[in-house]
Amino acid sequence: MSGADLEKVARALVAPAKGILAADESSGTIKKRFDSIGVESNETNRRDYREMLFTTKGAADNISGVILYDETIRQKASDGTRLVDILKKQGVIPGIKVDLGAKALAKSPEEKVTEGLDGLRERLVEYRDLGAQFAKWRAVITIGDDIPTPYCLDVNAHALARYAALCQEQGIVPIVEPEVLMDGNHTIERCYQVTCDTLHEVFDQLYEQRVEFEGMLLKPNMVLPGKENRTAPPDEVAQATIRCFKTVVPAAVPGIVFLSGGQGDEEATANLNAMNAMGPQPWQLSFSYGRALQAPALKAWKGDKANFEAGQRAYLHRARCNGAARSGDYNDAMESSSAA
Ligand code: 13P
Repeated sequence: MSGADLEKVARALVAPAKGILAADESSGTIKKRFDSIGVESNETNRRDYREMLFTTKGAADNISGVILYDETIRQKASDGTRLVDILKKQGVIPGIKVDLGAKALAKSPEEKVTEGLDGLRERLVEYRDLGAQFAKWRAVITIGDDIPTPYCLDVNAHALARYAALCQEQGIVPIVEPEVLMDGNHTIERCYQVTCDTLHEVFDQLYEQRVEFEGMLLKPNMVLPGKENRTAPPDEVAQATIRCFKTVVPAAVPGIVFLSGGQGDEEATANLNAMNAMGPQPWQLSFSYGRALQAPALKAWKGDKANFEAGQRAYLHRARCNGAARSGDYNDAMESSSAA
């Protein structure tokens, strides 16, 4: 794949009215989600749940791509069709989580570094053959009294850039995800500063390691106060977030696809909407939500095939609301008029 092909896929992922579904929960994370509705996390239940989401009619109007987990990219639906083929048939682009999780950072035990570079080139070749056109790697940055340290930002940014360069070498669009966590009681100003510092370091490393900005997407947190502090109104979040990105995200990057990070689902939609309502920016501003797209669908499903349609209605509703937020056209009335 040439650089132009990478850019084509990156741009398709942030096409108007569309965003990404993050359905790449690791085995540990999906177990936590299933525990919350009292459903056992086994291979069949995980397959059924994801099949429910991926077969939702009409979702492809607002969903450009889906990030899959290693198990899911190999899985077949109940009728024997590969889940990847179900997505492709609707024009939805399959993607894959390739990091192996955030582990304790040596000599700074409160911080984390993401693992998974060893053997990554070979895994990317296999995932590409299985149908993946884009990938995701998540780094986790925690805000605390004396953290993040420059050491933590440096090693995480370095790993993100090595991953991104390997993806582009294999013709896969890298989604670069440095997540500054909402955990804590910090102010929005502190989140602003840490997010700027993090992205500054990440783009330095991406540049050093020859990553083409046109053929990648950035998946960051929004600039928010810590969740034990307060909730900020959408306009305040939107202004702080855009101000930060204008300083540190090159205009050559086609799109910014936010993570929801534990925000409420309507809150994540309203914040994205407020950013897009500020008018055109150098990059497309879109979503790559996990919890904020799935939480109501998970609750409606309850692990029972009889609830497939209710789960799909709930998922479609969130996909539509976030699709509207791509152009600043989302409003409260959408929640009451077509809610599942
Ligand atoms: P959330 O939107 O639930 O934060 O998940 C997005 C994601 O992919 C985190 O890596």
